[in-house]
Amino acid sequence: MTAFLRARFEWVLAAALILVPALGAPVWAQPKDVVLNGDAACMVCHQYLEAQYPILAIGKTKHGTRADKRTPTCTSCHGESDTHINIPQGVSERPKPERMFGKGSMTPAPERDEACLSCHKGGKQIHWLGSTHAARDISCTSCHQIHTGRDKVRDKRTQPEVCLGCHKDKRTQIMRPSRHPILEGKVACSDCHNPHGSAGPTMMVRDSVNDTCYQCHMEKRGPFVHNHQPVTEDCGICHNPHGTINYAMLKLRSPFLCQQCHEPTGHRGTVASFATNSVPANTVARGCLNCHTNIHGSNNPIDAGNARTFRR
Ligand code: HEC
Ligand code: HEC
Ligand code: HEC
Ligand code: HEC
Ligand code: HEC
Ligand code: HEC
Ligand code: HEC
Ligand code: HEC
Ligand code: HEC
Ligand code: HEC
Repeated sequence: MTAFLRARFEWVLAAALILVPALGAPVWAQPKDVVLNGDAACMVCHQYLEAQYPILAIGKTKHGTRADKRTPTCTSCHGESDTHINIPQGVSERPKPERMFGKGSMTPAPERDEACLSCHKGGKQIHWLGSTHAARDISCTSCHQIHTGRDKVRDKRTQPEVCLGCHKDKRTQIMRPSRHPILEGKVACSDCHNPHGSAGPTMMVRDSVNDTCYQCHMEKRGPFVHNHQPVTEDCGICHNPHGTINYAMLKLRSPFLCQQCHEPTGHRGTVASFATNSVPANTVARGCLNCHTNIHGSNNPIDAGNARTFRR
C-alpha cells in the first residue's frame, strides 16, 4: 500500500465492504470470526491485509483449534489495542497494537512473555521465570513463531538452526567427528535441555546430567556390583555430549583421560612395562581400555578381582 492508502486504510476497507452485501450479510453489521474465536474485531481489517502481514496460518496451529475454548484470540497476545483499532482524533498515524512481538519490537521481553504465561505457566514452562533464558531477556517469541504452521524450533530437524543462531560455539562442536546425531535430526538439543528452564543444572531436562543421559543410555545406569565413582557422579567428566575430536565423545584420549585422576606411575601389579613408566604401553590404541573394558561399571560376580577393576 502507498503511504497515503495506509494512513487512510478505512477507505480501502469501505471499498471492499461495498462488494460484500451482494454475497451475503453485510460485514459491517456483524463481523464474522475468520480463524480464531473472537478475532472479528481485528479481522474486519486484517483479512484484507494478509498480503503485507501474513497471519492467517495461525488457524492451522493448535492456537487455531476453535473447538478448544482455552485457545487465545488476537487480543490475548497483542492486547486490546483500542487506539490501533480506532485512531484517536488528531493522530495522523495509526498507533501500534499494545504488544508487538516481531523483530524490532519495542515491547520489553517480560511484557511479551506475560501474554504467553497467562496460559502457559505450568508444565514444561513451570521453571521459566527462574531460567537462564528469562534472566537474559530471551523471550518466548525469540524461539517460537506463532503465525505459521511450521514452528521451526519444535521440529527436531530445524531446531538446531534456531538455537545455533545464538549459541554459535555449539555449531562447531556438533560438527566434530565424534558427536550425537543432532544434524541428522535424530537427537535434539531439547532431548537434553529444557529451553524453558528446569530444576536441574544447565537447564537439563532431568534433575541431573546423568538422569538426562539415562533416558537413552539405560544400560549405563546399572545398578552395578562395582561402580566407577566418576561415572555415577557425572557423565560429563569424561564426555562432551556436544561432540569432540576423540572417539566416543571423550574429552581426552586414554591414558590421559584416566591419568587426570589415576597416578601414571602407581599401577599395581606386574603388567609388562608398567613398573617404570606406564605411558608407552598405554598409548597403544585404546590404552588403559584394552584391559579395563567395562569402564562404566562391572557386574561380574564370578571373578571379583577382575570385576572390581572393570576388566570384565
Ligand atoms: C480499522 C482497521 C484495523 C483494525 C480493526 C485492526 N488493524 Fe491492525 N493494522 C491495520 C493497518 C492499516 C495496519 C498497517 C499499519 C501500517 O502499515 O502502518 C495494521 C498493522 C497491524 C500490525 C503490524 C504493525 C507493525 O507496525 O508492524 C499488527 C501487529 C496489528 N495490526 C495487529 C492488530 C490487532 C491485534 C488487531 C485487533 C486487536 C488489529 N490489528 C485491528 C488496521 C487495523
Ligand atoms: C498466541 C499469540 C498470538 C495470537 C493469538 C495472535 N498473534 Fe499476531 N503475532 C504474534 C507474534 C509472536 C507475532 C510476531 C511474528 C510471529 O511470531 O509470527 C505476531 C505478529 C502479528 C502481526 C505482524 C505480522 C508481520 O508480518 O509483521 C500481525 C498483523 C498480527 N500478529 C495480527 C494478529 C491478529 C489479527 C491476530 C488474530 C487473528 C493475531 N495476530 C493473533 C502473536 C500472536
Ligand atoms: C489464551 C491462552 C493462550 C495464550 C495467551 C497462548 N497460548 Fe499457546 N496454547 C494455548 C492452548 C490452549 C494450546 C493447545 C494446548 C494443547 O493442545 O495441549 C497452546 C499451544 C501452544 C504451543 C504448542 C503448539 C502445538 O502445535 O503443539 C506453543 C508452542 C504455544 N502454545 C506457544 C505460545 C506462545 C509463545 C504464546 C505467547 C506468544 C502463547 N502460546 C499464548 C493457549 C494459549
Ligand atoms: C530457547 C528457545 C525457547 C524459548 C525461549 C521458549 N521455548 Fe517453548 N519450546 C522450545 C522447544 C525447543 C520446544 C519443543 C521441545 C519441547 O517440547 O520441550 C518448545 C515447546 C513449547 C510448547 C509445547 C510443548 C509443551 O507442551 O510445553 C509450548 C506450549 C511452549 N514451548 C511455550 C513456550 C512459552 C510460553 C515460552 C515463554 C515463556 C517459551 N515456550 C519459550 C523452545 C523455546
Ligand atoms: C535469542 C538468543 C538465544 C536463543 C535462540 C537460544 N538461546 Fe540459549 N542462551 C542464550 C543466552 C543469552 C544464554 C545465557 C548464557 C550466556 O551467557 O551465554 C543462554 C543460555 C543457554 C544455556 C545454559 C543455561 C545455563 O543455565 O547455564 C543452555 C543449555 C541453552 N541456552 C540452550 C538453548 C537451546 C537448547 C536453545 C534452542 C532450543 C537455545 N538455547 C536458544 C540465548 C539464546
Ligand atoms: C546429549 C545431551 C545434550 C545435547 C543433545 C545437547 N546438550 Fe548442551 N549440554 C549438555 C550437557 C551435559 C552440558 C553440561 C551440563 C553441566 O555440566 O552442568 C551442556 C551444556 C550446554 C550449554 C552451557 C555450557 C556451555 O557449554 O556453553 C549450552 C549453551 C548448551 N549446552 C547448548 C546446547 C545446544 C544449543 C544444543 C543443540 C545444538 C545442545 N546443547 C545439545 C548436554 C547436551
Ligand atoms: C535422546 C536420546 C539420547 C540422550 C538423551 C543421550 N544420548 Fe548419547 N547417544 C544417542 C544416540 C542416538 C547415539 C548414537 C548411537 C549410534 O550412533 O549408534 C548416542 C551416542 C552416544 C555416545 C557414543 C558415541 C560414539 O561415538 O560411540 C556417547 C559417549 C554418548 N551418547 C553419551 C551421552 C551422554 C554423556 C549423554 C547425557 C549428557 C547422552 N549421551 C544423552 C542418544 C542419546
Ligand atoms: C571415567 C570416564 C567416563 C565416564 C565418567 C563416563 N564414561 Fe562413557 N565412556 C568412557 C570411555 C573411556 C568410553 C570408551 C569405551 C571403550 O572404548 O570401550 C566410553 C564410551 C561410552 C559410550 C559408547 C560405547 C558404549 O559403551 O556404549 C557411551 C554410550 C557412554 N560412554 C555413555 C556414558 C554415560 C551415559 C555416562 C554417564 C552415566 C558415561 N558414559 C560416563 C568413559 C567414561
Ligand atoms: C575424575 C576422576 C577419574 C577419572 C577421569 C577416571 N577415574 Fe578411575 N576411579 C576414580 C575413582 C575416584 C575411583 C575409586 C577409587 C577407590 O575406590 O579407591 C576409581 C576407580 C578405578 C578403578 C578401580 C580401582 C580399584 O582399586 O578397584 C579402575 C580400574 C579405574 N578407576 C580405571 C580408570 C580408567 C581406565 C580410567 C580412564 C578411562 C579412569 N579410571 C578414569 C576416578 C577417576
Ligand atoms: C595390560 C592390561 C592393563 C592395562 C593396559 C592397564 N591396566 Fe590397570 N590394571 C590391570 C590389572 C590386571 C589390574 C589389577 C591388578 C591387581 O589386581 O593386582 C589393574 C588395576 C588397576 C587399578 C586398580 C588400582 C591399582 O592401582 O592397582 C587402576 C586404578 C588401574 N588399573 C588403572 C589403569 C590405568 C589408568 C591405565 C592406563 C594408564 C591402566 N590401568 C592400564 C591391567 C591393565
